[in-house]
Amino acid sequence: MDSYRIIANYYDRSYEAKPHLEDLPFYIDFANQNGGPILELGCGTGRILLPIARSGIEITGLDISEYMLAVLKEKLADETNEVKAKVTLHHGDIRSFKTEKKYALVTIPFRALQHMYSISDQIAALNSAKDSLSGNGLLIFDVFNPHFDKVYAGIGEEYLDFEWTSGDSQIKRYFRKDSIDKKNLSFTGAFIFRTYRDNQLILEEEDPIKMSFYTFPHLQLLFKIVGLEIVETFGSFKKEDLTGNSPEMIFVLRKEQK
Ligand SMILES: C[S@@+](CC[C@H](N)C(=O)[O-])C[C@H]1O[C@@H](n2cnc3c(N)ncnc32)[C@H](O)[C@@H]1O
Repeated sequence: MDSYRIIANYYDRSYEAKPHLEDLPFYIDFANQNGGPILELGCGTGRILLPIARSGIEITGLDISEYMLAVLKEKLADETNEVKAKVTLHHGDIRSFKTEKKYALVTIPFRALQHMYSISDQIAALNSAKDSLSGNGLLIFDVFNPHFDKVYAGIGEEYLDFEWTSGDSQIKRYFRKDSIDKKNLSFTGAFIFRTYRDNQLILEEEDPIKMSFYTFPHLQLLFKIVGLEIVETFGSFKKEDLTGNSPEMIFVLRKEQK
């Protein structure tokens, strides 16, 4: 099941409306510093991929959701030929992705790795990323740092995430957490999109979502198994140190140097 079927229609507007989403300049800076070619695993609607292509860097995007890719293709159709020439898209699964081409930078932005729910899927995804790297290439990804008191709280409660205006409509995105699997470290929930016109609810749609979460030692062990080593870690997209209280866990990795 494609859990981005409904989300895809609202994705770009929701994240434009969300304050404090600072990952875009972070990934664009790394792209500019490193140059291409870049591979973005879980590229979605191209929120990050398109600005990178516009800055003249060659970038390949892979995503499993046809709905997310359809939004990206529609946006790409409006870009210049120069931008179009920088972009290659693949519909596929990170876990089984294989490429002859090697990339100077492989990214898995905005928690796409949190859609890997078992150790074998997590290893498969990281192996695909590692095998796509050129000799000195870097892999960068982010996941949230689980603050367990918050992650385990609020089951069944719905809260307003953010809202925005679209023409004469007001759209509100809510999130509801439905269950927690404390053994395997994942939760299920739903994003609910409600559209109002003249304060009347005219449309309600929802997509289920499942996310795993990682601890720092769990990730360290995955890197060892896969043969990746840490170059740098950050606890936020402002590049603050990674501590137990950080909001994010961001990793810059390379193939283990033998
Ligand atoms: C939160 S979105 C991030 C999209 C984009 N990177 C961004 O920053 O806006 C996560 C994306 O990962 C994709 N995804 C989830 N599991 C995947 C898999 N196994 N293989 C490829 N893409 C996957 C989803 O379809 C979705 O587009």
